[in-house]
Amino acid sequence: MNALIIYKSYHNMNTEKVAMAMAEAINAKLVKVEYAQPEELDEYDLIGFGSGIYAGRPHKDIFAFVERMPPMEKKVFVFSTSGTYRDDYHNPLKEKLVGKGCEIVGEFNCYGEVRLLNFNLDLKGPLGWFLGKNKGHPDKEDLKNARNFAKGLLN
Ligand SMILES: Cc1cc2nc3c(=O)[nH]c(=O)nc-3n(C[C@H](O)[C@H](O)[C@H](O)COP(=O)(O)O)c2cc1C
Repeated sequence: MNALIIYKSYHNMNTEKVAMAMAEAINAKLVKVEYAQPEELDEYDLIGFGSGIYAGRPHKDIFAFVERMPPMEKKVFVFSTSGTYRDDYHNPLKEKLVGKGCEIVGEFNCYGEVRLLNFNLDLKGPLGWFLGKNKGHPDKEDLKNARNFAKGLLN
C-alpha cells in the first residue's frame, strides 16, 4: 500500500516524532503540511493527517489543506499529540475529511510534552499548562504504539 503522511508540528515537535515513527513503520512518504500538494494525493492509497492539538483542535493549516483538496474517496487516518486526552479533538477534522468523500480508517492520539517556558516541572494539575506537563512524551512506549497502530492499518 502506498501511504502518505501529512503533518503539522511546531510547539515541541512532538507530532513530528509520532509521524516519523508511523512513516518508518509503513514506509510512508512524510510531508509537512506547508509543502503538501493536493494534486499529489492521487498517487496514494492511504493518507494520514497528523497535528498537535491547539485550542481544542488540530492546527488550522491542516484544515486549510483539506479545504484545498478535491473530493476524493480515499482511506485516511487522523492522529495527534496533545496535553490531555479528549475523544472529540479529532471530530472537526474527521467531519471535514468525510465531507470530501474520504473514509476514516483509524485514529491515534498520545500525550505530547507541553513546555511553554524553557523548563518543564512535569505537573499533573492545571498549572502544568504553564509550568510544563507530560515531560518526555511522546516516549518510547507512545512511539511503539504509533508504529503498531500504523502497521495495523495495512491489514
Ligand atoms: C498554543 C497551544 C495550545 C494548546 N492547546 C491544547 C488543547 O486545547 N488541548 C490539549 O490537550 N493540548 C493543547 N496543547 C498542547 C499540545 O497539543 C501538545 O503539546 C502537542 O504535543 C504539541 O504538538 P507539537 O509539538 O507537534 O506542536 C496546546 C499547546 C499549545 C502550544
